[in-house]
Amino acid sequence: MRIELVVNGERREADVWAGESLLTALRDRMQLPGSKNACEQGECGSCSVLLDGTLVCSCLVLAAQADGHEVVTVEGLEENGRLHPVQEAFADTGAVQCGFCTPGFVVAAADLLRRHPDPTDDEIREALSGNLCRCTGYQKILDAVHLAAQS
Ligand code: FES
Ligand code: FES
Repeated sequence: MRIELVVNGERREADVWAGESLLTALRDRMQLPGSKNACEQGECGSCSVLLDGTLVCSCLVLAAQADGHEVVTVEGLEENGRLHPVQEAFADTGAVQCGFCTPGFVVAAADLLRRHPDPTDDEIREALSGNLCRCTGYQKILDAVHLAAQS
């Protein structure tokens, strides 16, 4: 089936099969590999995107469900060639190690800061509780979100 949606502000079309996930459509059909596939069952958050402004795991959304809707991926967070403050803060604080979880954390943290510009540690932990990282021990990620909030 053919779907049409707006991805990172651009109208896109793709031919997908009925059971295909939005994650697969983004990565394999639209050449947007930023969203990562680490579990494909809603456990890790590495595939996080915004669907009509709501944070979702794109591995759990059918591509067909996104037809006619608006998606923002980690690639769409930069503005006019400048990284999003969360992206800069992750780099500056060393919150990126292997980096596999990072796109999901960045999208989830950007979503949090849009709703709560100066979150507490507990608010950050809760907002990022759907995102798993195997490398960082999470403290650097917390530091990154606080740094991004300051900027
Ligand atoms: S790949 Fe979607 S939650 Fe892990
Ligand atoms: S930086 Fe490696 S999984 Fe998070």
